[in-house]
Amino acid sequence: MNILVLHGPNLNLLGAREPDVYGGATLEDINEMLAQEAAARGVVLRTFQSNSEGDLVSKIHEEAGWADALIINPAAYTHTSVALRDALTAVHVPAIEVHLSNIYRREAFRHHSYIAPVAIGQIAGFGIESYRLALIAATRIGAS
Ligand code: DQA
Repeated sequence: MNILVLHGPNLNLLGAREPDVYGGATLEDINEMLAQEAAARGVVLRTFQSNSEGDLVSKIHEEAGWADALIINPAAYTHTSVALRDALTAVHVPAIEVHLSNIYRREAFRHHSYIAPVAIGQIAGFGIESYRLALIAATRIGAS
């Protein structure tokens, strides 16, 4: 199974960025943890981070033929991006939406996700564990 992990804007700053909200793990820590989890499950993983909406859209297009599932933390684009939503709809690759923080316990503008209605499901609020849970969920897509 091939899984593409997409990290949206400002997630390259994890570790230093609002650690009280997002925890102390860096993006490298998260990718390393995912690589270990993937290897243990025989899953092939690719990870990509961008601060640019267009680059994230293009990556979804490029990897659609390769990826069996997608794990995406759209970060701020969760709440704004019709383009990312349309890209996910266009490629028909099952997607799991991930957030480190529980977006529903935060400011009202974070309560709406453009991505959630086109995702298989959403995991939010468990910090770095959100990603681990998403990886497990991705490997189970089609199993139930
Ligand atoms: C986030 C939540 C978003 O609201 C925020 O813009 C982010 C990170 C999270 O992982 O908790 O950048 O997606």
